[in-house]
Amino acid sequence: MSTTYRICLLPGDGIGPEITAEAVKVLNAIGEREGVTFEFAEALLGGIAIDETGTALPESTLEAAHAADAVLLAAIGGPRWDTTDPEKPRPEQGLLGIRKALGLYANLRPVKLFPALVGASTLKPEALEGVDMLIVRELTGGLYFGESGREYDVAGAGRDGAAGQRAYDTMEYREFEVERIARTAFEAARVRRGRVHSVDKANVLESSRMWREVVHALHAEEFADVELLDQLVDNTAMQLIRWPAQFDVVVTENMFGDILSDEASMLTGSLGMLASASLGDGTALYEPSHGSAPDIAGQGIANPLAMLLSVEMMLRYSFELHSAADELAAAIEGVLDEGWRTRDIADESTLPQKTVGTAAMGDLVVERLGG
Ligand code: IPM
Ligand code: MG
Repeated sequence: MSTTYRICLLPGDGIGPEITAEAVKVLNAIGEREGVTFEFAEALLGGIAIDETGTALPESTLEAAHAADAVLLAAIGGPRWDTTDPEKPRPEQGLLGIRKALGLYANLRPVKLFPALVGASTLKPEALEGVDMLIVRELTGGLYFGESGREYDVAGAGRDGAAGQRAYDTMEYREFEVERIARTAFEAARVRRGRVHSVDKANVLESSRMWREVVHALHAEEFADVELLDQLVDNTAMQLIRWPAQFDVVVTENMFGDILSDEASMLTGSLGMLASASLGDGTALYEPSHGSAPDIAGQGIANPLAMLLSVEMMLRYSFELHSAADELAAAIEGVLDEGWRTRDIADESTLPQKTVGTAAMGDLVVERLGG
């Protein structure tokens, strides 16, 4: 009997279902080649879950995620569910909820340049030379999960000096949360180029000053062989554009990591190329770093490659199918080297006949896999 891997699929909203279909297609091709079986169970998350069940993270979805060997999530959200009303459900609550429920504290976002895509970036090719970094974003703490709320009728808070609203979000960390994400970063650096940038705002924020202390203590105790550099988050935002090749592993707080990873994705030409793995102590979750792109949903033009690169990470981290992961990576690179592009990564040198849609890009990858 062949090994069976159970994957919980969360297609979500917008372009989510379209790119999920490509992931399934590619996984089935890989399964055939490797003689393993991927079993899929689909569940609801995000806006579609709100529409069908009234909540962004139904209990049945959590059960399906816990029962699986890995979770593959596409994207959630869209203007249809946008609201500023704190009483109304939001798709993002589903995503944050499942990250928290599965204990996925470490979000790994590799930013690697595909040589074929140098022209797709808005930066000069010489600025991009040697770009190969891993952003390690803390995912279950910080500003996203601290105490937050709104108060009404607060004296003097209104726009006209009268009573009005006060709203707050809190950036809060516990030592153990900082230590475990720092450990993830140091361990990753050891098998990469041995350098960690710890990014904070220690010149202003108390939580950042504690972050710095904890990172340095762990470094001194266990990881003195790794180079550790502190960098302030505003400086990092600038350095990512000025000299991105200086970075190997970047470890940072939840929201800083959210912002910096979008910025870093543009080094690779498109947010449509950035994969991610969210790891904790149990079932891991894999998702592209991009959103649900409601503006192009349903048109068959979305770039499925960030999703397929997330599948590659799943093969490696959850299933230890390293040769299959290598083959998938090589297939994606091969397709790009041949000049095939989805719209978001096309440039003036792209031949019109090589600009393809979502399904065709998936087919090209399968063909390259020999499927
Ligand atoms: C991401 C996304 C999410 C985040 C949103 C959709 C809640 O931007 O995964 O980077 O902010 O974490
Ligand atoms: Mg983001």
